[in-house]
Amino acid sequence: MEILSDIAKVIAAHCAEDKTMVEMSLTSPPRPEMGDVAFPCFRLARVMRKPPREIADSLKTCLESDVSREAADLLEKLDRVETAGGYLNFFIKRDYLARSIMRESMAGGERPGASSEGEGKTVIVEYSSPNIAKPFHVGHGFSTFLGEAIANLFEYGGYKVERFNHLGDYGTQFGKLIVAWKRWGDEAALEASPIGELTRIYVKFHEMAEKDPSLDDEAREAFGRLEHGSEEEVTLWQQFRDVSLKEFNRVYDRVGIRFDNTNGESYYSPMIPDVVRQLREMNLLEESEGAQVVSLDEFKLNPCLILKRDGSTIYASRDIASILYRDRTYHFDKNIYVVGIPQKNHFNQVFAVLKKMGFPKADGNIHVAFGTVRFTDGAFSTRTGNVIILEDLLNTSVAKTRAIIEANNPAMGRAEIDEIAENVGVGAVRYTFLRNGRERDIVFSWEEVLDFEGESAPYLLYTVTRCASLERKASSELAERSRRISDEELGMLVSDDEQNVLKEIARFPESVAAAREAYEPSVMMRQIMAIARSFNTFYHNAQILRADNESLGAARLCLAQAVGRTIAAGLRIAGIKPVDKM
Ligand code: ARG
Repeated sequence: MEILSDIAKVIAAHCAEDKTMVEMSLTSPPRPEMGDVAFPCFRLARVMRKPPREIADSLKTCLESDVSREAADLLEKLDRVETAGGYLNFFIKRDYLARSIMRESMAGGERPGASSEGEGKTVIVEYSSPNIAKPFHVGHGFSTFLGEAIANLFEYGGYKVERFNHLGDYGTQFGKLIVAWKRWGDEAALEASPIGELTRIYVKFHEMAEKDPSLDDEAREAFGRLEHGSEEEVTLWQQFRDVSLKEFNRVYDRVGIRFDNTNGESYYSPMIPDVVRQLREMNLLEESEGAQVVSLDEFKLNPCLILKRDGSTIYASRDIASILYRDRTYHFDKNIYVVGIPQKNHFNQVFAVLKKMGFPKADGNIHVAFGTVRFTDGAFSTRTGNVIILEDLLNTSVAKTRAIIEANNPAMGRAEIDEIAENVGVGAVRYTFLRNGRERDIVFSWEEVLDFEGESAPYLLYTVTRCASLERKASSELAERSRRISDEELGMLVSDDEQNVLKEIARFPESVAAAREAYEPSVMMRQIMAIARSFNTFYHNAQILRADNESLGAARLCLAQAVGRTIAAGLRIAGIKPVDKM
């Protein structure tokens, strides 16, 4: 809100604080009857060694007697100023607030809060990163949807975003798969259900290796041959990779996600000798029980394993090589990893090794961690033991949504129902991964996920359709008036309900910026939920298309459009496609 800067300027003139600091400390009072903007005087109190109340009182007197041009302009926009405790509370004139927020929203168009702060900066966001030959489970779903939202938040801020999918396509487990395939593989089964068959033989390998440990040696040797480019192993590995990717791409297509770079771990394996050479030249490599490690005592971390005793590469060394490659190739400003909490230690180690190497952007590497997904009892039965496959989750959600949409719209045609159910069902799942702080575990319950009245994507989507339908149902005269709305008409949005909606709309841009800064889409999701809640309260209490007079009706229609635009923008950033009807 523009007025925040006006308030900050005038306050700053009366105290030893700089204007930006004042503006940053402005908050919203907890209840509307306490005012619209508050300035807390606690920090000033410490500097000036006076009680905060006293400072608030004297600031109030100073402001009211300030004869400067700025102060006069500000007072013009204010109803009054009050003090409460150590706070200076500003009451903005309601008509001014309505006009300025509505004009700001209209100027923001379909992209409210978009900015160019990131111009010229490149951000790599790595997410999804499933493992070849293993099911694409809900944990990877969490990374996929959270990562996409974070990538979108940065794009919205004007950054150049490179979407990375660091496929888990390398490591000793591929030695195991190769050995298992040669013994128990079934070509037809692989054709019919690639990941199912690969999982089956992988499980079988572990069962058999328990009785016959020589299988593990065989697997190590097979991976060694793979790393050295032996044709038979490379061909099999390539086949496992291809069939798995086909399944993963089906999911990405379905949810509309595209990556700019899908180099898997294998891509970095040939770069490791060079990393080892650099580490050795810097005297960072130590031998420990035959393996090569970098000690990280000064970071209070365990040593980072770089090469195993048999000389084969490991997960961490591939990550180190990958960061150097990302820097060379993309000159990133930030390199963000959207990966679960259990890998915190891994990333701390990798980032610490780079620090020891004197890598200049060591602090640009960021691990954005998230919690685990659980299901309430009986919410889900699985095809594969306790692993829940993302596609199964999406299919169940879409099927349940379809039943609801069918019941609500008896006259709707099959094709349209299918399309809406797919969109709402997938959106409902995505929302669930984004609504809470990312480090919190998710407990999945269908009642919540598909509660059309609750904290859910269907509720948000429904609110957008409600705004769209107002626009469709408005008389052409009213629609025309809303298109040419005057400042005076916008100034009619002064009721408590209207003002609440306006203030929630005005908070959207800052919620986007805060969400980006903290890699926390939930901050923005909570804000669009607050907009929807305040709007629906207003909608139930007021007449929009049949308002007392045409001017007020047109202004209310503009308000509804602003609500629809803002929620839709937030949903799009979240990767959820808004619809006109449902
Ligand atoms: N493939 C890994 C897994 O499923 C995640 C990869 C995370 N990214 C990375 N650069 N290490 O656990």
